Amino acid sequence: MKKILVTGGLGFIGSHTVVELQNEGFEVVIIDNLSNSSENVLDGIEVISGKRPVFEKLDLREKQKVQAFFAEHSNIGGVIHFAASKAVGESVENPLLYYENNLGVLVYILQELLKKGDSNFIFSSSCTVYGQADQMPITEDAPVKPAESPYGNTKQVGEEIIKDTCKVNPQLAAIALRYFNPIGAHPSVEIGELPLGVPQNLLPFITQTGIGLREQLSVFGDDYPTEDGTCIRDYIHVVDVAKAHVAALKRLLNTENTENFEVFNLGTGKGSSVLEVIGSFERVTGEKLNYRIAPRREGDVIQAYADTKKANDVLGWKAKSTLDDAMKSAWDWENKIRKGTEKASV
Ligand code: UD1
Repeated sequence: MKKILVTGGLGFIGSHTVVELQNEGFEVVIIDNLSNSSENVLDGIEVISGKRPVFEKLDLREKQKVQAFFAEHSNIGGVIHFAASKAVGESVENPLLYYENNLGVLVYILQELLKKGDSNFIFSSSCTVYGQADQMPITEDAPVKPAESPYGNTKQVGEEIIKDTCKVNPQLAAIALRYFNPIGAHPSVEIGELPLGVPQNLLPFITQTGIGLREQLSVFGDDYPTEDGTCIRDYIHVVDVAKAHVAALKRLLNTENTENFEVFNLGTGKGSSVLEVIGSFERVTGEKLNYRIAPRREGDVIQAYADTKKANDVLGWKAKSTLDDAMKSAWDWENKIRKGTEKASV
């Protein structure tokens, strides 16, 4: 079986993908700098898949170390590259950190892959590249809109870097996966999302409010031109997202790809409003959520949900879980990680 390098493999989407890879018999090596993750995640991965992946703590900005890593691991059959910074607000405050972490590192890895000869590369992109798309659902052909933040820009430029590199290096095959809104946790509740500080994303804010860690959720705007006035997103279970990575990797390993740079949306195809997500929380938990309507958040698009046809037909992959399934797993996970912790201190 091929050895697969997963950068950022201890993070939210990375750890779930490692589990799916190991379940399919792949040998996994993880690189992570633990900047937004913990080594304990390895225990959860081991409990679920019965195997502890090889782990190297390494900061990919250290170019010499990246070179040394690839020199030592000459038999890597594919790279799934999650390691990146992802906080929109922080990227506005510290753009160079984002350009270095998300683009400098990407260049270093691609340079090493080109030295290797044939190589396969999967890139974590985002639906943020579409901005406010003109048509719903969003197909992969929808135009890329000017980025709202340095974070968003790193995803757009990251895709361009890979595309340009693939154009002149036929030995490199790459797939960019544009995630919509990944949520939830592994149903075993052994791994899940571990947001640092006050969550910026909706789901962890909801579950933290539900458990009493946050007093109240602010719903950012109820005067949008949508049915209930709140924004619409395509929330997808993280296990479905993880499985799509395995499908994309297999496509490259089996040389089924028709171009050496391809792009796929990863969503469910179903849009849900913020109030519908709150409704799901209340249905799944049987508890009322404390929320209030607050002003709009700058930079939010009105609606974004995926056209999933290309991923369904070409990757042979389809999201299976419902919003309620994902919500239940997120809630179970929140309850597990808060058990025994002093709520006020987190
Ligand atoms: C956000 C980022 C996006 C990034 C994505 C990755 C912004 C403007 N966008 O997307 O660039 O790719 O995360 O994780 O930050 N909401 C509330 N109250 C909250 C939090 C969120 O009402 O406390 C609403 C938002 O207005 C939005 C929805 O919930 O309508 C989802 O928000 P979020 O989870 O932050 O995801 P995105 O905005 O889609």
